[in-house]
Amino acid sequence: MRKIAVLTSGGDAPGMNAAIRAVVRAGVAGGAEVHGVRRGFAGLLAGDLSVLGPRDVGGILGRGGTILGSARCTEFRKADGPARAIEALTSRGIEGLVVIGGNGSQAGALALARAGFPVVGVASTIDNDLPGSDVTIGVDTALNIALEAIDRLRTTATSHHRAFLVEVMGRDCGYLALAAGVAGGAEAILLPEHPTSPEELAAHLAGCNARGKQHALVVVAEGATPDATEIERWFRERHAEFGFEARATVLGHVQRGGAPTAFDRLLATRLGAAAAERLLAGERGVLIGLIDGDIRSTPHERVFAEKKPLDPELLRLAHVLER
Ligand code: F6P
Repeated sequence: MRKIAVLTSGGDAPGMNAAIRAVVRAGVAGGAEVHGVRRGFAGLLAGDLSVLGPRDVGGILGRGGTILGSARCTEFRKADGPARAIEALTSRGIEGLVVIGGNGSQAGALALARAGFPVVGVASTIDNDLPGSDVTIGVDTALNIALEAIDRLRTTATSHHRAFLVEVMGRDCGYLALAAGVAGGAEAILLPEHPTSPEELAAHLAGCNARGKQHALVVVAEGATPDATEIERWFRERHAEFGFEARATVLGHVQRGGAPTAFDRLLATRLGAAAAERLLAGERGVLIGLIDGDIRSTPHERVFAEKKPLDPELLRLAHVLER
């Protein structure tokens, strides 16, 4: 394989630049010319790509976002999307592609693999919802950002004897909320995987109050039902009944921004380099991830055959420690 390409797609994740840098430098070290595709699958369909050399990726290791840009592309999902993308690659003599991204991006990689094109994926999303990697690029940074917010909200919650609801990202996966809740000492964690009711939460917080807690910090996953804003409204209408107010803070895209942590830089570097090396060595149709501390390849078909479960031990601990 003489020419390969790399793209980043879907929601950006801190560490994507470190992964691009590793793909380019490991690819060049392996004897390949590496092309960078701008704006993910949208740029691929538009033929928006050019050669990236080792110097082009200098100084990006610690930068957030992605120098290649990213997009969510509905056009690629049309029936002729994969064939058009493959044409854009093969017409330039490109024989393999590295796709850095999360669920939607790896579904795109799978579509290309099924159409016969050599693709290797790199597990990169703050949601940590991809089977095939215990932890994905960006999770550690997003978690630390959420944690800082939680620590700050706790001090004002204590001053005002209030309940604070902190909504964290994760789409329909509760990993970020669970991990941030346990690491931040939350009084309750609301997860999409375990729907609850405002009444149940209120009873739980009343119990915390009765046990002498000066505040209540509730971490709510964005995909939870009800969500943080709905719970805040519910408490506002029943303030007299429950005796404490609630305030919701939605962290949103703040969690995806800024410089990646050391963990994410290392993870992205290891996964990116392995992706280029394994693609050049003939692997295809696989996602590169971290499993039990090792860099492993998981067939894309298997990644989409299962849903990543939440860690039962972390869930158990969350319940034990919230008392
Ligand atoms: O997949 C990453 C993610 O940040 C999710 O946590 C969130 O639900 C979604 O992307 C937000 O998407 P967008 O940036 O398109 O609003």
